[in-house]
Amino acid sequence: MKFSELGLSDSILSAIEASGFEEATPIQAETIPLVLKGQDVIGQAQTGTGKTAAFGLPILQQIDLNDPHVQALVISPTRELAIQTQEELYRLGKDEHAKVQVVYGGADIRRQINSLKNKPQIVVGTPGRILDHIHRKTLRLDHLKFLVLDEADEMLNMGFLEDIESIIKETPEEGRQTLLFSATMPPEIKRVGVQFMKDPTHVKIKAKELTTDLIDQYYVRVKEYEKFDTMTRFFDVQEPEVTIVFGRTKRRVDEVSKGLEMRGYKAAGLHGDLTQSRRTQIMREFKQGKIDILVATDVAARGIDISGVTHVYNYDIPQDPESYVHRVGRTGRAGQHGVSVTFATPNEMDYLREIEKLTKVRMLPLKPPSDAEAFEGQLTAAESEIGDLIKHTNTEKYADMANKLLSEYEATDLVAALLNETTRDNVKVKITPERPLPRRHGKGGGRNSRNGGGRGGNRHYDRNRNGGRGGNRNGGGRGGNGGGRNRDRDRDRDRRRNNKDNHGKDGNKRRFTIKNGD
Ligand SMILES: Nc1ncnc2c1ncn2[C@@H]1O[C@H](COP(=O)(O)OP(=O)(O)OP(=O)(O)O)[C@@H](O)[C@H]1O
Ligand SMILES: [Mg+2]
Repeated sequence: MKFSELGLSDSILSAIEASGFEEATPIQAETIPLVLKGQDVIGQAQTGTGKTAAFGLPILQQIDLNDPHVQALVISPTRELAIQTQEELYRLGKDEHAKVQVVYGGADIRRQINSLKNKPQIVVGTPGRILDHIHRKTLRLDHLKFLVLDEADEMLNMGFLEDIESIIKETPEEGRQTLLFSATMPPEIKRVGVQFMKDPTHVKIKAKELTTDLIDQYYVRVKEYEKFDTMTRFFDVQEPEVTIVFGRTKRRVDEVSKGLEMRGYKAAGLHGDLTQSRRTQIMREFKQGKIDILVATDVAARGIDISGVTHVYNYDIPQDPESYVHRVGRTGRAGQHGVSVTFATPNEMDYLREIEKLTKVRMLPLKPPSDAEAFEGQLTAAESEIGDLIKHTNTEKYADMANKLLSEYEATDLVAALLNETTRDNVKVKITPERPLPRRHGKGGGRNSRNGGGRGGNRHYDRNRNGGRGGNRNGGGRGGNGGGRNRDRDRDRDRRRNNKDNHGKDGNKRRFTIKNGD
């Protein structure tokens, strides 16, 4: 559907044009008119299908530039996502001169306070820091017209719910439009959400599958201690270009990223124990292509939009099926194709089936490549690398020595040495085994963990907040200690990538080819 048929103003339409969007995606086509009409909306559509613009555009259009109050608040689960959303809203609202400010933990609060004095009409932020500003009275929400929970099911989950409730209390009940967006929306979480809404319309883009069919989804059955070598063998044969590897714990992320570096990959780890400046640096380098493999906890699972991610590897299978949907959704975005590979240890196979039940996609089994196949892959890569090397070599400069070497050694030996140098060393890497996920019992147990003990275990919140609740909470009041989980829920923050033009071959026009299922 054309954007011009949705009731959007000329200046918004020109920002859309400048973004290179050709047509509205289904979620945009269906929700934009509803939001313009003043309705509360739950917007559910597959990852990478433009939900940000779906809520962003109609809000931007309705911002009153003569009103100095904060009129819209977008709450995001991570700092990287908050920054990314601020950048997209800023870009889309540029012609309208909308002021969009972002607030998140781990960054200088004074600077944020100064920016808030600048009277932004739209604020994007993470819950902890938003509350902090509310308590300091540097953020007032009493004139709020739009409240958006992006990644709404995550924001309404136990870890965040209390904060969200506290924030909502600061907003006017009358005249506030509430919008929830996510690719996943479990019914029990939706029930929590509708309590904050007025007669909401649930727009669910009907697709046969919860994940986009642009992603080829595979799984590999593998023993815990074989995972690392198996994964690098897959790298050899699949030749991923821009890759995200998800690990279950921070230790895992640290060890896997270091191991990959030892083997000569350009890899870096991202998790919530890193300083914010380090996190920002890693995201920047990944987007610039200085890093090929981002190893991350679930902190990078939701919403992050990085152009051209070709492969997602789940080094550890996620415990929640929803988390799987978001992780693999970092690839196959905006019409591009992607591949995901999920490792499951033999007793984690039930989790795999549970994921398939939710996504309605059967993952195809892959056999771990043998040493010989991996070596073959390395040689193929070396062949093209050597071609490149020759292209970039000033042959004349080295000719004399080259001829001398050729007279001293067999040509085959020389090239073999070059190949040996060009292929990767299989340095031994030891990864500390993580406890496998607890065996699932009975049917549907996984999701229920949301209401029971499963999730409570080792939460880590990255709040960096002064006052009442302290910086880091472990364990939280609810949930007990089931599950042995150590999810990096650090949540707070991404930014726009620069090379957006990668999207389409035809100039900067981008068109979706989302199949609208039934
Ligand atoms: N109509 C459109 N045409 C082409 N590209 C678009 C369109 N709308 C959004 N995009 C681009 O598609 C990409 C994905 O959008 P976005 O991040 O909003 O997806 P999402 O649905 O929020 O995904 P997730 O569930 O992972 O958060 C972005 O790069 C965005 O700029
Ligand atoms: Mg999103």
